[in-house]
Amino acid sequence: MSFDRAIKIAPSILSADFANFGAECRAIEAQGCDWVHIDVMDGHFVPNLTFGPPLVAAIRPHVKTVMDVHLMIEPTDGFLEPFAKAGADRLTVHAEATSHLDRTIGAICDLGCQAGIALNPATPETEIEYLLDKIDLVCVMTVNPGFGGQSFLHSQIEKVRRLRAMIGDRPIHIEIDGGVTPDTAPLVAAAGADVLVAGSAVFKGGSVDAAEVYGSNIKAIRDAANTAIST
Ligand code: DX5
Ligand code: ZN
Repeated sequence: MSFDRAIKIAPSILSADFANFGAECRAIEAQGCDWVHIDVMDGHFVPNLTFGPPLVAAIRPHVKTVMDVHLMIEPTDGFLEPFAKAGADRLTVHAEATSHLDRTIGAICDLGCQAGIALNPATPETEIEYLLDKIDLVCVMTVNPGFGGQSFLHSQIEKVRRLRAMIGDRPIHIEIDGGVTPDTAPLVAAAGADVLVAGSAVFKGGSVDAAEVYGSNIKAIRDAANTAIST
């Protein structure tokens, strides 16, 4: 998988029509998204329950870009292989959800998936310091995980800046997850983020039958982020 830091928009299907995931994935990709972000929640690590490996397998044929799977689950290790076999391109685990993060990241790499680490708002960026040569993404949670439609936590912008400095030229994406809109996207792009997860800001006002709304929502976020880094 080649690496570049161009701004990427990764809609979260948490805000999609749960009765129509395949068509929703085809619609957002047709409307220009770069990745498809899948928010897996277990009702234990986070106070919400969404979907598991069968869902990932079911939508895999409908996703032609990147299946970016965010595991908000604890424990994590037992589910790595099922999600990898289901077709995940990347597995992002929470630093807070495993006692042996290096071993978990190694297990993801051994499965042939890209490995990401997600950091909750209270978790410092130093958590990933000894894994910079094994991961391809760090996900900065800009909300407390569990639900879409929450307000963006501005405190996380400094964490993005520090991560950007720590990463240097390494091929590691900085992904932002939570409360991303055309208003907040420039703030994190200017701080060094390159992948923007957005659920409500992409799906609001649209549907599979009005997918052009998805396209204009995606464009608004991307343009706002690019404006911040081109000036
Ligand atoms: C939180 C979820 C949300 C979701 C994005 O656990 O991970 O951050 O992806 O939701 P919005 O874009 O609606 O804040
Ligand atoms: Zn997520």
